[in-house]
Amino acid sequence: METQTALVQALSAIVGSNGCLITDADTAPFVTDYRGIYRGKSPVVVMPATTGQVSQVVAWCHGHGIPMVPQGGNTSLMGGAVPDDSGTTVVISLRRMNRVLAVDTVNDTMTVEAGVTLSAARAAAEGRKRLFPLRIGSEGSCQIGGNLSTNAGGTAVLRYGSMRDLVLGLEVVLPDGRVLSSLKGLRKDNTGYDLKQLFVGAEGTLGIITGAVLKLVPQPRSTATAFVAVASPDAAVRLLGEARTLSGQAVTAFELISAPALDLVLAHHGNAPSLLPGRHDWMVLIELASAGEAEHLDAAMMEILECGLGNGWVADAAVAASLADAQRFWRIREEISDAQGYAGGSIKCDISVPLSRIAQFINKASAAVLALEPAMRMVIYGHMGDGNVHFNPLRPACRDAGAFLARWHMAVSNLVDDLVHAENGSISAEHGIGAAKRDSLDRYKSQEELELMWQVKRALDPKNLMNPGKLLPSEPTFVVGV
Ligand code: MLT
Ligand code: ZN
Repeated sequence: METQTALVQALSAIVGSNGCLITDADTAPFVTDYRGIYRGKSPVVVMPATTGQVSQVVAWCHGHGIPMVPQGGNTSLMGGAVPDDSGTTVVISLRRMNRVLAVDTVNDTMTVEAGVTLSAARAAAEGRKRLFPLRIGSEGSCQIGGNLSTNAGGTAVLRYGSMRDLVLGLEVVLPDGRVLSSLKGLRKDNTGYDLKQLFVGAEGTLGIITGAVLKLVPQPRSTATAFVAVASPDAAVRLLGEARTLSGQAVTAFELISAPALDLVLAHHGNAPSLLPGRHDWMVLIELASAGEAEHLDAAMMEILECGLGNGWVADAAVAASLADAQRFWRIREEISDAQGYAGGSIKCDISVPLSRIAQFINKASAAVLALEPAMRMVIYGHMGDGNVHFNPLRPACRDAGAFLARWHMAVSNLVDDLVHAENGSISAEHGIGAAKRDSLDRYKSQEELELMWQVKRALDPKNLMNPGKLLPSEPTFVVGV
């Protein structure tokens, strides 16, 4: 192992002395995760400014057997972007690679460096009357490289897909420093394995994404937004079905919100009034968007709500009368995540099941969790239209967060994950695996899947230096087909 001095000298020679952070105060924001749960150590945080520098840094670390953690905006909810506490792992931050290189409005693509924040990418697209459609709450801090590495999803996947669907080309520095460059903006390319997709969702375990070509779409000219009280999760699913029939492609978001989830946000704002009178067990936030006239969309929204009222699925609704209203509705939805953080003691299960089973899953899993501890608050919210909800039982108001988590975290996570698995679902729909869920993969992936994942990992990173200890559970001892 190199001494810290030798390491810093070698890396500074590549990135310049202002590209290396070494004091505890300077490295602190890079070694602790967003939720403050994973606290690691690093001898140096290195911030290359070009792909060439990333390549040299990685080649040097590879040659000297030094583990690396690639880092974007450090907004992972799974501890995926911070080092462990061994103090041996170099953090490679992409934050200085923050240029939008090109916006092609004929090809409808944008070429960016990996350290561009999502909000900067969206703004650059907007400046050219295009939309880059990924929409997540952390857009001001998260970066495109991290969005790709975690296959980020968010609130517009229903319409536009996740990062996997939004990428056309990638540039990646491989674990030995070679550069795999395919910054092509092609919608059709049938020339063999689609290698770029290997790196999407790989959480930096196979290499470091340094650049990308992303798909753009026309900016919608009008939107209609409604905050709707629904009778049950099942009623919500039926309403979504009708919304799609009545408005076609226009349904952009369909977000479920349980009463305890809304309570947290309102409590955080000093018990602010809700958007609807009375307390409703379930609500959905619906957004329609189109390139057509606003009147058509407003009429479609009214038709959807009338259909819901007529069928007894909808109890009440507030329709946004202005952009400011719509923003207010969205703010409530987007604040749920942080409001849980302030409350403390939430067991986060980011799950998906087929849409046809989501209502029964929510009912079954809620009953099973409440049978363990009837006072838990069922904070359930998220992207129901994608079959993805954040199913996050929260400590009873009177219980201490630490004691609650110590008693229930594993038991509740395993119970929920078992039910998800039984419904043919996923134990991590959009947040990834990181350090938090890697042991759970052992329980739910088949032997063949685990072995193939390891075979890919060994082929690209035989020294296991790229984000070690993340995503993959411990190496299996069995061998398939060899
Ligand atoms: C969300 O949908 O708000 C995000 O995935 C974040 C979260 O679940 O905490
Ligand atoms: Zn989400």
